[in-house]
Amino acid sequence: MTADRRRLIVVSNRGPVSFRKDDHGERVARRGGGGLVTALRPLVSHHDVTWIASAITDEDGAVAAEAGGESFDEVALDGSPYKLRLVAHDPVAYDAFYNVVSNPTLWFLQHYLWDLANGPLVDSGLRRAWESGYVTVNEAFAGAVLAELEAEPEAAVFFHDYHLYLAPRLVRERRPDATLTHFVHIPWAQPDYWRVLPEPIRRAVHEGLLANDVVGFHTARWRDSFLACCEEFLGAECEREEDRAVYRDRRVLATVRPISVDPSEFDELATRPEVLAIEREIEARRPDRLVLRVDRTDPSKNVVRGFRAFELYLEVHPEVHRSVGMLALLDPSRQDIPEYAEYLGAIQRAARAVNDRFAQEGWTPIELRIEDDFLGSVAAYKQYDVLLVNAIFDGLNLVAKEAPLVNERDGVLILSENAGAHEELGDWAISINPFDVSAQAEALHVALEMPVDERRARIEAIRAQVREHDLAAWIEAQIGDLDGVAAHARR
Ligand code: F6P
Repeated sequence: MTADRRRLIVVSNRGPVSFRKDDHGERVARRGGGGLVTALRPLVSHHDVTWIASAITDEDGAVAAEAGGESFDEVALDGSPYKLRLVAHDPVAYDAFYNVVSNPTLWFLQHYLWDLANGPLVDSGLRRAWESGYVTVNEAFAGAVLAELEAEPEAAVFFHDYHLYLAPRLVRERRPDATLTHFVHIPWAQPDYWRVLPEPIRRAVHEGLLANDVVGFHTARWRDSFLACCEEFLGAECEREEDRAVYRDRRVLATVRPISVDPSEFDELATRPEVLAIEREIEARRPDRLVLRVDRTDPSKNVVRGFRAFELYLEVHPEVHRSVGMLALLDPSRQDIPEYAEYLGAIQRAARAVNDRFAQEGWTPIELRIEDDFLGSVAAYKQYDVLLVNAIFDGLNLVAKEAPLVNERDGVLILSENAGAHEELGDWAISINPFDVSAQAEALHVALEMPVDERRARIEAIRAQVREHDLAAWIEAQIGDLDGVAAHARR
């Protein structure tokens, strides 16, 4: 990484670390889950970072209280020092923020997950959750950012994701000269779909984001939808050739910066003793050819259709019975939200249906593991022959970048055309329409029968792309965008 060290304030709902009490009542720190946190951790090693995040567990709340709500010193896994500020929220407000607005509403909207004849119900409950949950939590984040800017007025603020659409505007009102950027890690839906939300809410979302200097997306597709929404809902003037929106006399740069991974981290993980032990266990049980999927149990990940496609494949190709199997490693996610709890049930039923139909003595077609097991995922990455990523919509999908780096079997990537990673990796993957289960069944057949030379050429091209456009390059590009904005402001 070549960029100079900067003062950065990183702001995300989930922090890089979360605290809990172990069985002996001792406080232990655990790395925060999810792609965003994994991707942002290296920032801490290369820049002077204060990270602001929600206090999510009870123990996070205790840590926040001990620090008097201020930032405190922390050390990253690699020994780098940084500051952490945990924002404690009223539990009722946080529940409305996370379990009513952020996930069942904004996440569902941005991944096109509603069946509009049946949902969502936009009523006073949603409006209340918006006002007393989403607005309140965003105000608390804005307050924390303003307090940190008081101490470090030159720091640039990096907001992340759909939990924090309102905070930038609240900060901008008090600090007109602050440097604010926001990275949106999920898709941006087209204007008509946003119209499900009441006008004041969709206006607030877009006005909030346009209070930044830079708004970043993984793909041109999501960026263009965002600019179309800004034009349509706010009357912003969009300078498409320059990727800018002009609104209330401010110019906002809308960038396309697909996030990536740190290949050296995966090189190291692949040889760790714990990973090797799990890999040996997978190897001992694996069928001749293995189809892998690694996801959170999120409706956007399209697990049920993936199982249905595998069922169709087994139906059409009885000759592969016993020799092909699917391993599904699924991290249980957001289980306080009814749609997610129901989806987990649907996943289990769908896997059981396939196994009830086809299993034979000594062969279970689908092995379903529901647990948060990152090292187990890395072990499985090494062992797949086909990696299935069939998301309905996905901002990027880091699995599609991580797994080929460490795979040892020239595995083939089957990739949804609606995953952001498709813009970069589509040429070397087998592209699928995530709704078309027959096409996915056919893709499984093509991938599993592909000659080794072709498989190797494809995975090597994917690796080269990911190694060249790695996480360090992503971070540098973001810093470059900030410099560009600063230079523009000086002119
Ligand atoms: O960008 C989407 C994201 O924030 C990812 O970082 C992560 O994989 C996931 O959502 C985590 O969600 P949650 O914080 O709700 O567990």
